This record gives sequence, structure tokens and C-alpha cells, in this order.
Amino acid sequence: MSSEAVAPEAGQGTASPGDAVPIASRRGEKGPLVYRQSIFTRLTHWVWAVALFFLLLSGLQIWNAHPALYIGQESGFEYDNAILRIGAENTPEGPRGFTTVFGHKFDTTGLLGMSGPPERPNYVGFPSWSTIPSFRDLATGRVVHFFVGWIFVATLAVWLLASLVNRHLWRDIILKPRDLRDLPRDLWDHLRLRFRHGRSYSPLQKLSYFVVLVILFPTIILTGLAMSPGMNAAWPWLIDIFGGRQTARTIHFIVMVLLVLFFVVHVAMVVAAGPLNELRSMITGYYRTSPGTPPDPTDREKAT
Ligand code: HEM
Repeated sequence: MSSEAVAPEAGQGTASPGDAVPIASRRGEKGPLVYRQSIFTRLTHWVWAVALFFLLLSGLQIWNAHPALYIGQESGFEYDNAILRIGAENTPEGPRGFTTVFGHKFDTTGLLGMSGPPERPNYVGFPSWSTIPSFRDLATGRVVHFFVGWIFVATLAVWLLASLVNRHLWRDIILKPRDLRDLPRDLWDHLRLRFRHGRSYSPLQKLSYFVVLVILFPTIILTGLAMSPGMNAAWPWLIDIFGGRQTARTIHFIVMVLLVLFFVVHVAMVVAAGPLNELRSMITGYYRTSPGTPPDPTDREKAT
């Protein structure tokens, strides 16, 4: 097994620049079990994983009330600024579901616009299995979305405060010049499913978690607030930052799609990197590093 040298992460105590984190553990050989995830990182992670599930499904329920996205201030029949529209129409072959993206129309019968059993089709944007509640109920969808939305905001605030105090944000999330330099090689390693189990995140992990935590989460919260009439009265400038209510709604939707894509790749990477070790670190805090990972007295380390 290859043991290419990789410089230790910033903030890793006494590790000298010559120390190496091998690409993966040699068969039967175990590296140190280190305390990698603080209680705040673990708790907030699982709260927002559950919260995002409810936000996604209740959000799709709300979106189904008007299944189209626009750019600009206006929306409605007299304007031609829709970039996405989902609906159903009568055709010579009978009713069909369609999705139009930037003027390109696709037949999405069975999934978008028209779904459910053929004898009793449901003419909705997203199908009933992807919404909360599963039937059309905008009011309940909004109650769930706003309630869970505030839990999500509070969780992110707790994560930010804790990560500033325990330096998780600086040590594990903010990319340093060395991370940027190592990024192409780490990307290449990930593409070949060759993982380094170090004390901190690899440059690609740092980048993806930075994008999620520092860019996507705040953007989806701010665009959500920009759509709220109460916030428009309190902070009228917020809606202007995002180019109007319709553009804010479109950005909110695009960030949702990016988070769903992140989730798919994230879970695939957890499975590929060794799900038991990865999950243990996000449940108990302890993570088995690769053999040869340099010792660091700032870690709470387990001997086994
Ligand atoms: C919407 C769902 C999810 C989101 C947005 C998400 C996001 C994240 C983020 C941002 C981190 C870094 C946290 C930090 O260091 O402060 C992280 C770490 C982690 N997540 Fe998730 N996650 C989600 C779901 C899951 C699921 C379902 C699993 C398990 C299958 C999982 C397993 C892990 C593990 C093991 C880590 C530890 C970091 C690592 O070693 O790569 N996550 N996740």
C-alpha cells in the first residue's frame, strides 16, 4: 500500500513537517484512535441532518403551490421570465406531466407534473412521496417548514459559537494556503477512492464543509428570510440584496438542489471511506486514523 507523505494539518500540535498520513491503513494494522469530533460538532450535525429532511419535504409541499421559478422582481402570466416550470397538459395521447427548463420542455410524466397510479393520477409538481404532508396541504407544509427552519437556524448559531470557541472553524473548516496547494492531489485521491484518515479533514473535505456551512447554509437561511413579509418590513434591504422576491426564491431552490447533491456525495464518501469508523466519529467522537499518523499531545487519545 502506498504511503505517500502528506504534510500534517495546521493546528496539529507537535507533528513535524516530515510526518506523514498514509493513504489508507495496511491490512490488520491500526493507527491511533483519536478524539476528532467535539460534542457540539456531533450534536449539531445530527440535528441539521434531521432538520434538513423535514425542511426539504415541507419545502417541496410549499413549492408545489406554484411550481415555477423566475428571475427578477415579477412573476405571473403576463411575464416571460420563468426559468423552470413544472405542470401537466392535455396531449393527443392523453394528459402528460412536463418540466420546462430555460425554454427546453421535457416529458416528466410519472415523476414531475403528473405522478401516482395511472388510473388515479395526481397533477402536482413534485410527487406525493416527496412532500410533507403527502397530500396537498400548503398550511401544514408552511407550519412544519417555519418551525423546523428556526430549529435549523438555532443549530447553526450553536455550531458557529462552539466552533469559534473550540477553534474547530479555524482548525478544520477554513482552508489554509497548504490545503489549497494539496487540493488537486486530494481531489485525485478521492476520485480513485484512496482516503487518508488523518486527525483533521483533508483539503477536499474542508472545502466541501466550508461551502456547506459557511456559504450554502447561510444563503438558504437569508433567502428564506428575504421571502418573509415580516422580514421585508423589518429589513427591506435584504430582499434587494438578492434581486427581488422571485430571484430570492430561485436562489433558495438552487441551494436546496446543491444540498441534496452534497448529501448524495457525502453519504457515498462515508460509505467508501469506511462507514463504521466514520459513523463512530460522528456518534462517539473517536476516529481510527491511519497507521503512522503522527502523535499529537493536544488530542485526547485512546490506547486501543
Ligand atoms: C442533510 C444531511 C447532511 C448534511 C447537510 C451533512 C453535513 C455535514 C457537514 C457540514 C459535516 C462537517 C461538520 C463539521 O465538521 O462541523 C459533516 C460531517 C460528517 N457527516 Fe454529514 N451531513 C449530512 C448527513 C449525514 C449522514 C446521513 C451521515 C451518515 C451516513 C453523515 C456522516 C458524516 C460523518 C461521518 C462526518 C464526519 C466527517 C468526516 O469524517 O468526513 N452525514 N456532515
